This record gives sequence, structure tokens and C-alpha cells, in this order.
Amino acid sequence: MAKIGELDSAKVTVLLDDYAGYESRFLAQHGISILLEAVYEGKQYRILLDVGQSAYPILHNMELMGISPSSIDAIVLSHCHYDHTGGLVEFLKAAGKRDFPIVAHPDIFRENYAFRPIIQNIGVSQDNSREAVEEAGGRMCLVWEPLEIMPGVMVTGEVPRRRDFEKPGIGTWNVKDGKVAPDEIVDDISIVVKVKDKGISVLTGCSHAGIINIIDWAKEISGHDRVDLVIGGFHLIRASAQRIEKTAQALLELGVKKVVAGHCTGLSAQAEMARVLGDKFVQLGAGISVEL
Ligand SMILES: [Fe+2]
Ligand SMILES: [Fe+2]
Repeated sequence: MAKIGELDSAKVTVLLDDYAGYESRFLAQHGISILLEAVYEGKQYRILLDVGQSAYPILHNMELMGISPSSIDAIVLSHCHYDHTGGLVEFLKAAGKRDFPIVAHPDIFRENYAFRPIIQNIGVSQDNSREAVEEAGGRMCLVWEPLEIMPGVMVTGEVPRRRDFEKPGIGTWNVKDGKVAPDEIVDDISIVVKVKDKGISVLTGCSHAGIINIIDWAKEISGHDRVDLVIGGFHLIRASAQRIEKTAQALLELGVKKVVAGHCTGLSAQAEMARVLGDKFVQLGAGISVEL
């Protein structure tokens, strides 16, 4: 039974990725930003998933595409990492709006440490503290459960991690009350989109919850089984060959019609998905557009 509304139509465009493609006019940067253009009752709305590590290449690419930053209606942050949140305040300043809705998990502003090559916080930077974001016009909507931010567009909230081959954690750490513990990136959230007469589409940042866990959850919260598109980073860059094989196999078994993966997906996983999924697999890159 459907648990999500429906859009008239929708399109996703990659504003930023680690890769910009052969003979591309667009800029690349380690990070991701995906634009969703959603048409509901004849009117178009624009939602941004993530804002890269700095806004400059996103604003540059948007200008080439003829999209103004002030035309964005809402931003969803997939998780705390700097390559997804670093451009936030700069982007908000460029948009020049007040009460700009920003959806994220309540833990997004925690510190997230990496100790290689040396101690550093790879979570939200000081320049993008909650205070700085609000000062720049952002209005944080912090939610850990699924939230339909407009009819047909749902933010997943925390994703249950049920597939045993998708181990949690990426070797980053959380320091709380003087104690150090592995940080499992519980704040990892994605977007689910449903267009009339189509299957669902899933837009991800890094998929730290596991891309198959995310698809399982997207199906459950939307009440739809057919998956037309999965697009984003799958974070398989340092995954074992076994996990990569199982992921590609699961995408095939789930019947996903199109898989567009890049950013932190890694070359081995891209190659395996290209092998297993054939032309259903497309490499992510700045400037790519997919009609849902
Ligand atoms: Fe990332
Ligand atoms: Fe990440």
C-alpha cells in the first residue's frame, strides 16, 4: 500500500561530483550535490541534496545550467561529512533568503573524527555551525524519522541496517563525555521520490547506512516495490571484493532499472556494477540529468 504521495514529473541533475566527465564544461570536486526538480500540481519545486565541500564549483556549474541559487526551495543534508556540508553557509549567502528549510538528522552537528593521517574533525566545519547556518538564513529541520517534505518526496530518516554484508562504520570516531567510540554515521539519510505511474527513485549522499539497506528501507517507507533509479555515492571505495559483489548482485535481484553511482563508490565497485548490470549502470558525473 502506498505511503507516499506522487509528483506529476521529476528530474534529477548532478550539480557536483568528484568527476565531471570527458570534455565537460563543469567543475568537479571531492563531494556531491544533486538537484531534484519536482513538479507537483503543475508547479516546479527545487530540492538540493548536499552542498559539496565548498559552494564555488556548485555555483559555477549552476550558472552554466542557468539555475539561480535563490530558486532552490529546500536543502537536505545526507550526513555530517565536510564533503557534503562544507558549502552550506556560502550557498545560503548566495541564495540570500531567510527561513530557508534545511532538513538533516538531529546528530549532524556532532564531531566526527578521523585519526589518519592525523586527528581531524571530518564532520560539519566550524564555518557551518548551526549558529552560522541560521545567521545565513537557514532554518534547520532536524528529524530522525521518515518525513515527506512534499507530496512524493520523502526523506528516509535513520535507516535500519539489516543486510549482514553491509557493515556499519567507516573507521571514524565520536568523542563523547571524554570517551572515544566508533561513529556509525547514524545520521546518514537519503531522499525517496515517487512520480505518477513510475517506480521510486532513491537519491543518496555517501550511503554510509549501506546502499541495499537504504533501498530496502525506501521500499518499506514508501510502500512501493518497483525501483526505477538509484543515484549517488555508495561508499564502497575501501570495501571488500565480497561486499562489492554482493552489492552488485543485490541491485540486480532488486530489479533496479538504472544505477548512477560515483563520488565515494570507488572504481572497483563501479567496474563490478558495470559488469553485472550492463547498460543499467551509469557513472555519476557533474552535469548528468535523469528524467524520473
Ligand atoms: Fe562523501
Ligand atoms: Fe561521507
